[in-house]
Amino acid sequence: MSPQGGPRPNSMAARDSAFHFHGYTNAQKNEKDGGFVVVRGEGPYIYDEDGKQYLDGLAGLWNASLGFGKEQRLIDAAVKQMEALPFYHTFSQKAPAVTVELAERLVALASQAAPMSKAYFCNSGSEANDTIVKMVWYFNNALGRPNKKKIVARIKGYHGVTVAAGSMTGLPLVHKDFDLPIKNILHTDCPHYYRFGQSGETEEQFATRMAASLEALIEREGADTIAAFIAEPIMGAGGVILPPKTYWDKIQAILKKHDILLIADEVICGFGRTGNWWGSQTFGMKPDIMSMAKQLSAGQLPIAAVLMNQRVYEVLRDNSGKIGAFGHGITYSGHPVSCAVALETIKIYEDRKIIDHVRALSPLFMSELRSFADHPLVGEVRGTGLIGALELVKDKTTRASFEPSLGLGPKVIALGHEHGVILRPVVDSICFCPPLICTEAQIREMFDKFRKALADAQAWLKSQAVAA
Ligand SMILES: Cc1ncc(COP(=O)(O)O)c(C=O)c1O
Repeated sequence: MSPQGGPRPNSMAARDSAFHFHGYTNAQKNEKDGGFVVVRGEGPYIYDEDGKQYLDGLAGLWNASLGFGKEQRLIDAAVKQMEALPFYHTFSQKAPAVTVELAERLVALASQAAPMSKAYFCNSGSEANDTIVKMVWYFNNALGRPNKKKIVARIKGYHGVTVAAGSMTGLPLVHKDFDLPIKNILHTDCPHYYRFGQSGETEEQFATRMAASLEALIEREGADTIAAFIAEPIMGAGGVILPPKTYWDKIQAILKKHDILLIADEVICGFGRTGNWWGSQTFGMKPDIMSMAKQLSAGQLPIAAVLMNQRVYEVLRDNSGKIGAFGHGITYSGHPVSCAVALETIKIYEDRKIIDHVRALSPLFMSELRSFADHPLVGEVRGTGLIGALELVKDKTTRASFEPSLGLGPKVIALGHEHGVILRPVVDSICFCPPLICTEAQIREMFDKFRKALADAQAWLKSQAVAA
């Protein structure tokens, strides 16, 4: 800070506000305060330009599974690939060898959740989900079902920000003033039992009601107009919302009955986050199509993938033959350097037994999370594997939330920042999603720092004369 407030002149923070336009940022605030500029990393820690250390409890954007330090094996994989073949593309039947290797690897891995046949590569989760929308439309046109085009997503689901993916995202901020959603995208209920369960309703009954509501939507619209249902195994950016018991069995039965494809968005859950390779495994989902990104490359290079089963593939294959080509392709689809890094990331996960590590660490993570259950501000504690959230409430009995204008969630995060821990608020839910490589001591440190922030927040609330 300069003595006048705002960033120090010529600091990286000041240059950021002068030249850089951020996503998901209040640009007025960034212009006034300057950006938060990160200069290096080590394990789960990052360091700002003044050398202050922070433990990033959200693994960056739920993606930096191996943390932020120098990972020599990934450096070597990238360098080796740049020396051998820095670029080739995947149009017109061409492909870098490493891209083929990664496709084969992903098909084998994904088949642990549901049988998959082919992989198509993209550069981001948004791009992967946009590609899936086009594939699903193409699929139904090819099958002579031109009306079966609508895609059902969920309120509070997150699927990215590009035009179709952003439409499927069920968060008002992603739609407002962007003229989204586009047509043919519908949203069904958010299956958050704590928030939307009715008094006296069991979790199973709530799941039955969610499934009935989906079926009512399908019947209202006409099953012959609904192509697919897209969902994250755990809703991440919507606030780490776990499916209620029996939810996926009931939802999948309805999809099957109405010949509706299931798309599993594994962008956060994939590659070990829930203690299995896939969130779909953890919750018994049998998708027809999967999207994945983020931990696929430990967040170190941009890459995403769409995996499809044999039934979907055959329809796309035959229609591309009929038309002359599948008229969709991206210059950097299957970029060899990203593929080499992704392939090596998967090998690291295997060599370091990352799934076993997540399973071994999860009981500590969950017990630390649950240690906040009796806190007067904490309404719900939820999580599994190494992902969780605490929902802060004004009244534990009635579950009433604080006024959003109070900004309690963002305040807690700002206080955590001062204590050297980075977390994510989704309104008043505080999300935890640490790098998978964290040690027990680092998990404890994350929660200890958060505990201090929560105590400060309580004091702040009192100073605001709000009953806590
Ligand atoms: C579940 C899910 N799907 C898709 C996306 C979009 O990915 P990207 O930001 O790489 O476009 C995200 C990003 O957070 C995500 O969490």
